[in-house]
This record gives sequence, C-alpha cells and structure tokens, in this order.
Amino acid sequence: MIKPDAVANGSIGGILKMINEAGFRIVAMKYTKLSAEAAGSFYEVHKERPFYGELVDYMSSGPIVAAILEKENAVADFRKLIGATDPTKAEEGTIRKIYAKSIAANAVHGSDSDENAEIEGNFYFSGLERF
Ligand code: CMP
Repeated sequence: MIKPDAVANGSIGGILKMINEAGFRIVAMKYTKLSAEAAGSFYEVHKERPFYGELVDYMSSGPIVAAILEKENAVADFRKLIGATDPTKAEEGTIRKIYAKSIAANAVHGSDSDENAEIEGNFYFSGLERF
C-alpha cells in the first residue's frame, strides 16, 4: 500500500519506479480511499495497540494505492526495499528513508508474511481483478 502522505505529496510514481526496479511484478493495483471502518478492519491485528486510533484516522485521511506484488521471496525482499517502520531508523536508499515523514506517515505498508499477504490482497481485490 502507498499511504496517504505519499499519495498526497506526489510520490506514487517514484515509489512504483523503485518497486519495479527492485524486480517486483505488479499483478493488481487500485487507487482508492479507505473509510475509517475499512482502515480499522485492515489493521485489526493492531487493535490493542496505543496507536491504533491514530493509525485508523491517518489511513482513512486520504487516497491510497493498493497493489499485489509478485516476486521470489517477495515478503522479505519488499520489507528490505521499504526499510524500517520508523523512517529515522530506515537504511539509506530504502523507500521509507526517501519518502516517509514519520512513523505514522511512513509512505508504504508491506505484508509481514505470505499468509498476511494473501489476507491483505483479498481485502482489496477479488480473484477476477488479478492477472
Ligand atoms: P505498517 O507497516 O503499515 O503497519 C502498522 C503501522 O502502524 C505501521 O506501518 C506504522 O505506520 C504504524 N505505527 C507503528 N508504530 C506506531 C506508533 N508508535 N505511532 C503511530 N503509528 C505507528
């Protein structure tokens, strides 16, 4: 997911370029906006965290880009490409180091396991939208 901060400041193109150059294939992509209810449901695993309310407000504050990416070892390689959740801790050359403003407005989200990638892909796309 490209998050509201990165969409708002015109970084969609730059982020997609980095994703393509790192060898990921985009198999589904959508420009959309989450309601607070949808954002709450997407991030349900974080429901008990103190930042959940802020996360839901933020993720429903503006349009996002959702995509399903394909690659060998995609989950681990994408997490390497995006860098640490906190952009101040992200390595040089990572998407978050370049584009993220803060730990909440951190430009992108990546699934943390194959299982969650399946769940999160299904959240945005039906089987027919993938090719
Ligand atoms: P993401 O990879 O989308 O997964 C959960 C998100 O919660 C994370 O990126 C951050 O944007 C957000 N998050 C994590 N920790 C904090 C925090 N301490 N304060 C605000 N947001 C946070």
